[in-house]
Amino acid sequence: MHSFFNPTSPQARAVAHLWWWMLGVGGVIWIGVAAIAVYAALANGGHRESDDLQHVSPDTHSRMERVVGVAGFATVLVLVGFLIYDFAVGRALAQHPQRGLTIQITGQQWWWEVEYESPDPSQRLVTANEIHIPVGEPVQFKLRAADVIHSFWAPNLNGKRDLIPGYMSTIWFKADTAGVYRGQCAEFCGLQHAKMAFYIVADPRPKFNAWYAASSQPHQTPTDSTLLYGQRVFMTSGCAVCHTISGTQAQSNVGPSLSHLESRSTIAAGTLANNHANLMGWIVNPQAIKPGTRMPAIPLEPNQLTALVAYLESLK
Ligand code: CUA
Repeated sequence: MHSFFNPTSPQARAVAHLWWWMLGVGGVIWIGVAAIAVYAALANGGHRESDDLQHVSPDTHSRMERVVGVAGFATVLVLVGFLIYDFAVGRALAQHPQRGLTIQITGQQWWWEVEYESPDPSQRLVTANEIHIPVGEPVQFKLRAADVIHSFWAPNLNGKRDLIPGYMSTIWFKADTAGVYRGQCAEFCGLQHAKMAFYIVADPRPKFNAWYAASSQPHQTPTDSTLLYGQRVFMTSGCAVCHTISGTQAQSNVGPSLSHLESRSTIAAGTLANNHANLMGWIVNPQAIKPGTRMPAIPLEPNQLTALVAYLESLK
């Protein structure tokens, strides 16, 4: 699921092919050099003192020079060959499609903000840590960082690309096969760098469209009294200072958007499965799960916590 050995896009395949060629050719050369070294050691055994270069006949000497010359030339040839191949792969990866879905990704300590661009502002969609894309279509990612340098890396789909504060970089790929692909921040960015993961969910177009439409719906104010209380806890206890829930007054983007949280498979940027126990544990003591996380523990009464979690779980 998180492996460049299983490329599922033309871009990742190009990178994987380059790697396999480098491994193959490098491996053959290594075995050849090792074999020659072993042969030389064995052939030389027994007459170590007499067989130095001064006692070699002029004929043998010039033959040795030729062999070394040819080996040097072959080395340069192999390296230049890989240089050209590498450039060709780099160029192919850098060519951006002119059309297609564009998604802005903002790296934050330690999660990913995901914003789907649209010329119509009402069609823009903001979510976090789980990136849905249509299968078989080029998708362009505009990468930015809010704080420090991060690196966007979904090995099954493409190589790495850094997210640099104050600078926008781009990367694109086209997923061939529907599936869920794990991605990971690949640049050390602080305490929880290792727990800065994301998922790319590649779906056929109709399924993607359905997801997009559902995720664009603002949430309705709940009618159930527990959920209503949970929403009030959310708005008044401090959660709303950092998070967004569409359709409510919570509109901050300090932390990940929680709109349609229940539709995501993980919480805390791929750290925990999104289930009742984990959600509760995460709210009660986030520092125990992700030490250093910007998410503070907010003191809540048990009934407040239960209602809050019930409300969050209602955000389908
Ligand atoms: Cu973000 Cu490492």
